[in-house]
Amino acid sequence: MKPCALLFLCLLVVCAQYVFARQAGDGLNEQQRLGRQIVAQSCGVCHLPPARNAKTYGPLLNKAAGGGDDAVVREYILDGTPRMPAFKYFLRPTEIDAIISYLKTVPVPAPAPAPR
Ligand code: HEC
Repeated sequence: MKPCALLFLCLLVVCAQYVFARQAGDGLNEQQRLGRQIVAQSCGVCHLPPARNAKTYGPLLNKAAGGGDDAVVREYILDGTPRMPAFKYFLRPTEIDAIISYLKTVPVPAPAPAPR
């Protein structure tokens, strides 16, 4: 191999490591990051609090959603409920997998102190 090709290869490896190290910052993999993005775009209006302590229309989503059962969560997303739209014609199966995989990384928040 020519020296300059070798140098190029080394540079490539160093760059790749840098990119991976940066992405690993939030501890999420590629699929989970996609899930987070979809949740923010498609589910956030109802499931993400607009401000601290504000009430959301739907329950907060985390690893306990659907009782922690993937199949139940998938059913909610596919078919919706009377108060939640169905997403089966809107999201691809891989996107739903990504959402489920992301939700598993979201911890259950500590219970809020009882109002006085
Ligand atoms: C229009 C508001 C709305 C949107 C948009 C919405 N949801 Fe919901 N979701 C609800 C409501 C309300 C409930 C509570 C069930 C009920 O009352 O019918 C719920 C329940 C759920 C549950 C069950 C929660 C539990 O505690 O078991 C899951 C899982 C869920 N939604 C996921 C999603 C995902 C993922 C998306 C985006 C793809 C989404 N929802 C978008 C309103 C919404």
